[in-house]
Amino acid sequence: MFIYFPLFLIIFFITSHLYNKVQNFPPTLFPTLPIIGHLYILKNTNHFHRTLTQISKWLGPVFHLWFGTHPVLVISSPSTAEECLKQKDTIFANRPLGLTSGKTIYYNYTTLVTSPYNDHWRKLRRISTLEILGANRLSALSYMRTDEVRLLVLRLLRLWDQDDNTPTLNMRSLFMEVTLNTMMRMIVGKRYYEDCIVSEEAEMFQEMITQTPKLSSYTLISDFIPMLRIFGYEKKIRKNMIELQNNRDKFMQNLIEQQKKATKNDDNSLSQEKKMKTMIEVLLTLQESEPEYYKDEIIKGLMLDLIIAGSDTSAGTMEIALSFLLNHPEVMKKAHSELVNCVGEDRLVNESDLAKLPYLHSIIKETLRLLPPGPLIARASSKETTIGGYRVPIGCMVLINTWAIQRDPNTWVEPNKFMPERFLKNEGLAPRELGFTFLAFGNGRRTCPGENLAWRMVGLTLATIIQCFEWERVSEKMVDMSEHLRGLTLSMTNPLLAKCQPRSTMMKVLSQIRN
Ligand code: HEM
Ligand SMILES: *[C@@H]1O[C@H](CO)[C@@H](O)[C@H](O)[C@H]1NC(C)=O
Ligand SMILES: *[C@@H]1O[C@H](CO)[C@@H](O)[C@H](O)[C@H]1NC(C)=O
Repeated sequence: MFIYFPLFLIIFFITSHLYNKVQNFPPTLFPTLPIIGHLYILKNTNHFHRTLTQISKWLGPVFHLWFGTHPVLVISSPSTAEECLKQKDTIFANRPLGLTSGKTIYYNYTTLVTSPYNDHWRKLRRISTLEILGANRLSALSYMRTDEVRLLVLRLLRLWDQDDNTPTLNMRSLFMEVTLNTMMRMIVGKRYYEDCIVSEEAEMFQEMITQTPKLSSYTLISDFIPMLRIFGYEKKIRKNMIELQNNRDKFMQNLIEQQKKATKNDDNSLSQEKKMKTMIEVLLTLQESEPEYYKDEIIKGLMLDLIIAGSDTSAGTMEIALSFLLNHPEVMKKAHSELVNCVGEDRLVNESDLAKLPYLHSIIKETLRLLPPGPLIARASSKETTIGGYRVPIGCMVLINTWAIQRDPNTWVEPNKFMPERFLKNEGLAPRELGFTFLAFGNGRRTCPGENLAWRMVGLTLATIIQCFEWERVSEKMVDMSEHLRGLTLSMTNPLLAKCQPRSTMMKVLSQIRN
């Protein structure tokens, strides 16, 4: 045993090295262990994005790893990302398949986020970008977002009134609630969080929202090492996933039934109301004209995708941006002056003002550059191809390391420093012109369809709270900006706590809101 095992290992390493060379696979990490491959690097999953970035410094912008028996390609430079997301966009437009989460909680890979690149996806994607998240719908529903942000202001005012000292606020939960309320209102016309009032339905909703990312982040090791299945190791997680899915499905089905009933009841409602349709109404109208395609299941899957993909990401961006502002009072000051100059202090900032606030945009871009909510973009190859001259087999999982690309010293001056000014030269709304050096929303065919909505929600919320309140940290100590990854979603390790008080110059406007 003591003689043969090391001998076995040596032979294994040599043959796997030679295999790699002969097959023209990209460089890989040493050692590749039998059975588990490189899964040992997952021991610090919270910093997986940093681990991959470190490895790319050793191995270069294209390398591959073995997750058990699955090859995983990791892309870490703008030019290789461009090859993947532009030149070979159609080949890399799939998402990884064969994961338990996809089968159980994503309706067997039929939802927009998880579906392979096929006619079904194209159809879903088209109605999402045109009907659901298109500029017209977003504008028609803008009053909902305006209203929710006003309610946030009102809530901050009340908390301030109640307390003799400036109260300490948990900004993570405040931002999450305003985002979820906004999203749910746009999707189904209902709010879920009221001050202190928690209904049973809201509780169920909350549970659904927190459990989904948590459970889908358990990348089941047995998805990668089928051999482990015989130990029944993943049974419990699988069971929890199925239970979660049953609850989510019931919740969504209920919303559909309520909506159908409501539509029936006001059949003769005026057609001029049409423009204000919520997203679920749009989908149910489509169902009427094409019932065999827009089955309830497709609608439920799409709504869940929007909620899950849109909430944590947008709320997290608000939280991180405010944290940076608290640590950089000079930036906060400049953002406030921009608001005073461009909007004034006689009225609340609104969505049409956002285009006139380039500095605010740079702050959000810089936030998304340093701490992108999705630091690793997951794709899969639909046929054999090459990247950077190396061979990529069919069905290979691909991770595009946005984190590494957005902190690459070859592209960015002082990459780890928060400097919104670096973006002021290009004042445009969309970060597209930054090409493949900025990938916070992805790129190519599967780029984030909610980008426009995210800019509006994050922009309006931040602008409003900066305009109305003076913000400070809870202590002298800087806000802790350390991050952790859960599944493929990045957030700050500790929720942001902060204090605020109404700006004296805004009292007139604020007293109008109170009434
Ligand atoms: C700051 C906020 C957000 C960030 C940073 C973000 C980021 C991303 C990223 C990196 C992707 C993967 C793109 C790719 O594969 O190239 C993505 C996909 C997606 N996002 Fe967002 N997102 C945000 C907000 C939203 C919102 C508000 C919605 C919708 C309400 C949304 C819906 C989606 C959907 C449905 C997909 C999957 C698209 C597909 O596979 O075809 N996202 N997002
Ligand atoms: C899931 O989808 C695959 C491929 O489309 C199909 O073969 C399989 O039967 C489906 N499973 C269930 C449970 O519907
Ligand atoms: C924003 O406010 C300006 C000035 O009061 C107004 O002209 C504009 O229509 C408003 N836009 C929205 C979307 O409310």
